[in-house]
Amino acid sequence: MLRQLLRKLSRRRDAGVELEIESESEEHVDDAIYAEDTGEGGQPACSGAEETSSDSATTSQVSAPLSMKDRIKNDLSCRLADLQDKYSDVSEGTDIVALLDMLEDAENNVVRQPPLAAQRVLAVSRNPDAGLNDLVGLLERDPTLTQGLLRYANSAFYAGISSEPVVALMTAVQRVGMAGVEAVVLRSIAEGLISRPGPPFDRLVGKVWSHMVRCAPIARSIAPAFGVEPDRAFTLGLLHDAGKLVILDRVSTLRSNLRRAPELPTAFLSATLSGLHQTLGALAAAEWGLGDETVAAIANHHRNPVPEIDSTMCEVVYVAEQVDLARQKNEELVLAELWKAGQLTGSIESTSEAIEAELSQAA
Ligand SMILES: [Fe+2]
Ligand SMILES: [Fe+2]
Repeated sequence: MLRQLLRKLSRRRDAGVELEIESESEEHVDDAIYAEDTGEGGQPACSGAEETSSDSATTSQVSAPLSMKDRIKNDLSCRLADLQDKYSDVSEGTDIVALLDMLEDAENNVVRQPPLAAQRVLAVSRNPDAGLNDLVGLLERDPTLTQGLLRYANSAFYAGISSEPVVALMTAVQRVGMAGVEAVVLRSIAEGLISRPGPPFDRLVGKVWSHMVRCAPIARSIAPAFGVEPDRAFTLGLLHDAGKLVILDRVSTLRSNLRRAPELPTAFLSATLSGLHQTLGALAAAEWGLGDETVAAIANHHRNPVPEIDSTMCEVVYVAEQVDLARQKNEELVLAELWKAGQLTGSIESTSEAIEAELSQAA
């Protein structure tokens, strides 16, 4: 299974696009968040990403399979090289190379490191030997995480458990469980990626984040129909486009370094967002210690090309995204077409009720 996941990562071709910047005007950038996947601005297959690590000078050594993270880094390097190639003719007088260099620096925090408090909570929540008291002790030292957890525990999703509002951290942790705590912490980490790249892109950051926040509960509510654990689906929906925030965060840093607005042609930035966001989102998920299945689901969430493995998590986030797009655009979503395009393995019949319920909610 893992082998298949890894193979898929090395073979995947261009990512889909739901964000296409058509013009540098703020209005167009603002509208572009829901542009259809045109395939434009994409990149060719990165077939150069090797499946094993080997030392060419010592051919007698046995090659070892690369870790998921190393495979993603290889994929990223390949995609960056393709972008550099494609835009080399127009890079003069622009900041294209500077941005690509920043995105290439995968060893040096291309994905911003989470705050220490969040890292500690994540470590404890994933430690089977840790007790609830350890977790609560860490959480109560961080007002942001505390507020986030209480808000989550009191959300409509958990209203069925008890009508009593939760005010104590211990009760909140017991109510949402470790997966819920992890979802809250990962949300705070993803929020940390929200940057100010300057006009016209500030509004784009807001649009991307809103879309991610809306996809999370949609993914959670349709997850049981796909046999996926709801809190895991929530996290996946929330993080699926984190790669876009990573790119815009780098644009923001470039702006600070240059002390002026970076010179980035619209077509280039559009291609960068569309071509790299799945890979960078997967890298972020790997950095944050999410499992290989979640990482692979983020790396393939546009299902273009369709992954070679069956991953219900990938199917959930793909559908959640399309439900959000349809709801925002007030368009009909034809499930049979959606299933065909994404080559989904789950049955339409068992999931349609949950999807229809989400679609019926006002945008
Ligand atoms: Fe998305
Ligand atoms: Fe996406």
